[in-house]
Amino acid sequence: MSEDDFDVPRSKEQAEKKAEELREEIRYHDRKYYIENNPEISDHEYDMLVKELEAIEEKFPDLITEDSPTQRVISAEIDEFETVEHMSAMLSLDNTFNHDELREFDRRVREGLGKESEDIEYVVEPKIDGLGVALYYDDKVFQRGSTRGDGERGEDITPNLKTVHTIPLKLTDETVLKTAEFRGEVYMPRDEFDEMNERRLDEEKDPFANPRNAAAGTVRNKDPTVVAERPLDIFVYTLSYNEEGEFKTHWECLQEMKKAGLKVNKNIVKKEGIEDVIEHIEDWEDEKEELNYEIDGIVVKVNRLDYHDILGATSKHPRWAIAYKYPAMRKTSTIKDIEVQVGRTGKLTPIAILEPVQLSGTVVERASLHNEDELERKNVNVGDKVLVEKAGEIIPQIVKVTEKKSEGIFQLPEKCPVCGSDAKRIGDEVARRCINAKCPAQVKQKIEHWTTRGAMDIEGLGPKVIEKLVEHGLVKSIPDLYRLEKSEIVKIERMAEKSAQNLLDEIEESKDQGLARVLYGFGIRYVGSHMSNVLAENYESIEQLMDESHESLLKIDEIGPETAESLVQFFSDQQNRKMIEDLKELGVNMESERETAEQFLEGKRFVFTGALDDYTRSEASELVEKHGGRVTSSVSGVTDYLVKGENPGSKLDDAKEEGTKIIDEEEFKRMIEEKETP
Ligand code: IVH
Repeated sequence: MSEDDFDVPRSKEQAEKKAEELREEIRYHDRKYYIENNPEISDHEYDMLVKELEAIEEKFPDLITEDSPTQRVISAEIDEFETVEHMSAMLSLDNTFNHDELREFDRRVREGLGKESEDIEYVVEPKIDGLGVALYYDDKVFQRGSTRGDGERGEDITPNLKTVHTIPLKLTDETVLKTAEFRGEVYMPRDEFDEMNERRLDEEKDPFANPRNAAAGTVRNKDPTVVAERPLDIFVYTLSYNEEGEFKTHWECLQEMKKAGLKVNKNIVKKEGIEDVIEHIEDWEDEKEELNYEIDGIVVKVNRLDYHDILGATSKHPRWAIAYKYPAMRKTSTIKDIEVQVGRTGKLTPIAILEPVQLSGTVVERASLHNEDELERKNVNVGDKVLVEKAGEIIPQIVKVTEKKSEGIFQLPEKCPVCGSDAKRIGDEVARRCINAKCPAQVKQKIEHWTTRGAMDIEGLGPKVIEKLVEHGLVKSIPDLYRLEKSEIVKIERMAEKSAQNLLDEIEESKDQGLARVLYGFGIRYVGSHMSNVLAENYESIEQLMDESHESLLKIDEIGPETAESLVQFFSDQQNRKMIEDLKELGVNMESERETAEQFLEGKRFVFTGALDDYTRSEASELVEKHGGRVTSSVSGVTDYLVKGENPGSKLDDAKEEGTKIIDEEEFKRMIEEKETP
């Protein structure tokens, strides 16, 4: 879109006025959307406002202001983060682990204030498990954001923090605050973390271990465009410096911060006396599992600010606040065995088989040890006692060895445990891979991937059937699927004539899925479902794509050097070229599907909660988006449907409260199949 599509004012004065009006309007809607979860306008209307502002700024570049909503992402890489000194030390909190220690804290507070016989008013807040940051505003404009660092000095990560939509680039008109510093916690919401990891797995990138690690790795990334793509969020919890306004209590500060347009946690409460605080903490023990962010405890703060001054701080912690830590979701177990799995690309993954332990409601019996580097770093072998951690819906992790009971480190075999071929580490890759592309383990998984919903969607070809087909030697490659004959299939146990015919019909139908799905189905490294769609939008057929050079691939907006290299490698492999040729001869359509899906969900907003049986979150989201709908992470007044899976979270309550239409997986499926909304 360019200025021609809008009436960009001719005179600079008018343009300046219009730009400022648009910025105000965008800021208002940003707040409604990102902070209050209660948008007033459609995404399209919002996009139009931004585009109009962009058109003005394009015509009059010197009208661009640093707080303009168009300035969130800069594309220059950061060489090195500069060190900045904090306005006042960023202290940490002292920890307590039980109720008596909290009572002891309360006693010290009352004693320090000479108020032995009075109840103290406390503010009780979730302790967000992320990264502490400081945000500095001058004359309402966001100037600088930094990490905690050593408490005295941190790193200037302003460009990265500007990409976080819940950090306002300008404070609202309603607040008295102008020049001020705030402290808060940057974190990654659970659901978006899960989705991001699913995407990473899909693209054969290593998943992050937990939301905290992901947030930590992101905040200090040197490329703000990468940061902008990661789902970072923030809760602000302290007003640490202000030149305007006078506040008597921490609670008042929190209210003012909300007014200023900052994101303050909704679950902050005031309590009289420590016993009420303890009761609240107990009530919260279960509730915290339902939150869309991880907390590692509760923070208890004296409300009155004059009391903060009286109580003061030690060199490390304030005396007016304390953290209560919930019992950790970590337990020790013993490694009974280590299995070696062979993946779709031949990657050997060591999996620890554990003495079963109960961790946050589930029994954990297996944990990935990732690769050889990880085995070495953890110095781990069969028989060792280990600390196991599980947070939220995340894959269990082995934190460390707590008691070394074995000799040495587990060694990955140099031969593939499935086919006996050499297993090698090539170049500087951390993974050891079986080099035999015909290895049954690889073939099975390649075929499994080919048949998944996002690819050819052949429902009748589940893992069990594939296993049999491969074991009986009927299928050695993807094209073999299209050469199957009924007489061969019925030979496989328990496959009756009718089921065999159904299967063949389904396979036949799958030939018409088109280029994007074929590309996804190949399981090319870094080419997940999103990238396959990008490729199919840019190429009409596989022939066009197959002979593209690295350089021409890089010209496509979303393709980076790793993806380009991976594609070139895939298409230069003679076996892959043969496979493509065979598939073409067998009638598999590898042209891009130009007609778009019916947009029957245009403008409809969906929220998912709980696990779905038949779809991953990204598959379900893709279906919604493909038909013109939108998926958001939390329920608000404009949500049209909440899709409820197994073990739904608190979003279900939100939906009931909002009167949102709640549908289950069956209804969702029917809606997509029948292209009709209930
Ligand atoms: S108050 C001096 N409030 O926990 C006051 N901190 O060990 C310290 N944190 O460095 C900050 N949620 O990064 C406070 N509601 C909350 C918090 C919180 C998380 C982090 C913060 C701090 C660490 C304390």
